Amino acid sequence: MYIGTTLTNFIIETQRQFEGATGEFTGLLNDIAVACKKISDLVNKGDLVGVLGTAGSENVQGEQQKKLDVISNDIFIEALAHNGHVAALASEEMDDVYHLSDEAHRGKYLVLFDPLDGSSNIDVNVSVGTIFSVLKAPAGIKNPRKEDFLKPGTEQVAAGYCVYGPSTMMVLTTGKGTNMFTLDRDFGEFLLTHSHVQIPEDTQEFAINASNMRFWEPPVKRYIDECLQGKDGPRGKDFNMRWIASMVAEVHRILTRGGVFMYPLDSKIKAKGQGGKLRLMYEANPMAFIVEQAGGACTTGRERMMTLSPEDIHQRVPVVLGSRNEVERVSEYHR
Ligand code: AHG
Ligand code: MN
Ligand code: MN
Repeated sequence: MYIGTTLTNFIIETQRQFEGATGEFTGLLNDIAVACKKISDLVNKGDLVGVLGTAGSENVQGEQQKKLDVISNDIFIEALAHNGHVAALASEEMDDVYHLSDEAHRGKYLVLFDPLDGSSNIDVNVSVGTIFSVLKAPAGIKNPRKEDFLKPGTEQVAAGYCVYGPSTMMVLTTGKGTNMFTLDRDFGEFLLTHSHVQIPEDTQEFAINASNMRFWEPPVKRYIDECLQGKDGPRGKDFNMRWIASMVAEVHRILTRGGVFMYPLDSKIKAKGQGGKLRLMYEANPMAFIVEQAGGACTTGRERMMTLSPEDIHQRVPVVLGSRNEVERVSEYHR
């Protein structure tokens, strides 16, 4: 596919490779792109249109919702629930599965999404994003239930994110590599700017919230400690550190120049009775698919992310992702 082709054209061409494709998948990804363009516009206008600040409500995870968390969630529902491409939706900002209205046409896909990732950054004008994961809906069921969403990440038919940074970029995989599209704001199209992205296997850059250091488990402590010792330590090279607190921005950096990102399980998280900070189904799994398709790896530290069997749509997991050799080293320390 040539650089500069539109996202829509790219999806149509991708679909041509599947015999019997009906265009429904193309329609679905188009709906997602429309939603992301709308969110991008609001993120960009910010205070000018009064969308910053807190909503004054909590989501099912007990987190304070930002106005833009709620607005972005509504934009996604609006863009996806009426076009006949999906059978049901699930999101970070909704306790239960979102069922379509009785009259709405059902499509054959399920979409899980994090409408605004990194929303603690929204009021300080730092990159945020949207993450999505697409699964096949079970055939012949009018209103898929929660159980129908609980598929391992290997069942995803597509995954992507849109990062609202200095440029708005959509990063997408349908299982045939990872491709990046940049939004041309003047004519409102995502254009292919990087095809078949490859994450370097080695890196000298790590991302972790080091304020949690005293709560980490020994394998994570060991890994970071060795990085910090730099040239004089067992790694024999100096490392650099980044922490943006927007997973989308973090993954985007890693796709661009390599790196390792970790949000491990720690004693503070365990004390809350949780299995991690990030959510398996709309954060970890879609990012795992994107990263693996770019030659990187994503694990919980103990197993490959995409082979986990989810127990709940809001399940939390430890995450280690990025440059393959570093992820492998962290896994080795866990063994
Ligand atoms: P969300 O804004 O969707 O709740 O996700 C935020 C996530 C993730 O993007 C980021 O890596 C992490 O939370 C930041 O956590 P800390 O604030 O603990 O650093
Ligand atoms: Mn998130
Ligand atoms: Mn979010």
